Amino acid sequence: MKVTLTVNGVPRTADVEPRRLLADALRHDLGLTGTHLGCEHGVCGSCTVLVDGRPMRSCLMFAVSAEGAEITTVEGCRSPDGGLGHVQQAFVDCHGLQCGFCTPGFVTTITAYLRENPDPTEEEAREAIGGNLCRCTGYQNIVKSVLRAAELQRGAV
Ligand code: FES
Ligand code: FES
Repeated sequence: MKVTLTVNGVPRTADVEPRRLLADALRHDLGLTGTHLGCEHGVCGSCTVLVDGRPMRSCLMFAVSAEGAEITTVEGCRSPDGGLGHVQQAFVDCHGLQCGFCTPGFVTTITAYLRENPDPTEEEAREAIGGNLCRCTGYQNIVKSVLRAAELQRGAV
């Protein structure tokens, strides 16, 4: 089946099996390997992408269900000039990653969160990432990254 969607602002078409997961279509059909698959059961959050601006687990969604949707992957969370986006930069500043496997899911999740909550408290930042698992960092530096990204975002307005 043909599926047409906009990915990171670019119209894309893929020819997929009806049961092709959105995550697999992004990685294997469209070559966007920034989206990572961990549990493949909707638990870890590493596959999170934004579908029409909302975080979705791309391991739980068929590619054909995304027909006509606007998808943002971690590759699309960059700044308009092509450099690191605020959330990506914040992870660098705060050492918010170690192996990096979980990071794409955190970056997309936090990007969507900060659009609606531009000035979170530490507690709110902790809650915002409550659905994403990381086996390396112990989360503290990811919480710091949320707060730092909010600061960078406010500074840019
Ligand atoms: S791979 Fe999708 S939630 Fe874990
Ligand atoms: S940095 Fe390794 S799983 Fe999060």
